[in-house]
Amino acid sequence: MAKHINEKYVSVAAITKAEHVRVVKDIFKTITRRYDFLNHFFSLGRDIHWRRFTTGKMHFLKTFRFLDVATGTGDLAIETALRYPAVRVTGLDFVQEMMDRGKRKVEKKGLSHRITFSRGDALNLPFPDDHFDVAGIAFGLRHITDRKKGLGEERQGVAPRGPGMGG
Ligand SMILES: C[S@@+](CC[C@H](N)C(=O)[O-])C[C@H]1O[C@@H](n2cnc3c(N)ncnc32)[C@H](O)[C@@H]1O
Repeated sequence: MAKHINEKYVSVAAITKAEHVRVVKDIFKTITRRYDFLNHFFSLGRDIHWRRFTTGKMHFLKTFRFLDVATGTGDLAIETALRYPAVRVTGLDFVQEMMDRGKRKVEKKGLSHRITFSRGDALNLPFPDDHFDVAGIAFGLRHITDRKKGLGEERQGVAPRGPGMGG
């Protein structure tokens, strides 16, 4: 019997994978408007530093494409596009509301021609093998029900010698 934390959500240890996915989608649909503020506030701005650190580790050698899995409102996608002007970025997420907010940020920064968003599941990526030089996930791995499979999907999408990055 699931142990209730509050009236709406239950402990992830006590629910099925399908329920876990439903709760994750529900949470991010609900907090979309406040997500960026909450992320910066609760991490005291460290999230910004970590994305910057991560993009500094990237190497683009063949396809000059970056895949941002669980892109949310697109901050890692934007940081990467700003740092590497020759790179095209795909942000993938299964919550459209988060990506809609990301799209507006991308438009404001004039990056729409280099950053596109795609709705999909990190556990079943809809891209050909070896399509990207780099794949990354920022603050998203913890929400994925099968982390090993998620990282395997990312690895498959990355051209040989490209690093995959998870967090
Ligand atoms: C904490 S947010 C991270 C957003 C962004 N990467 C950032 O750096 O702020 C986690 C995101 O992961 C997405 N997500 C979780 N599981 C997913 C899955 N299996 N497939 C696609 N997106 C997923 C959620 O919808 C949410 O937008």
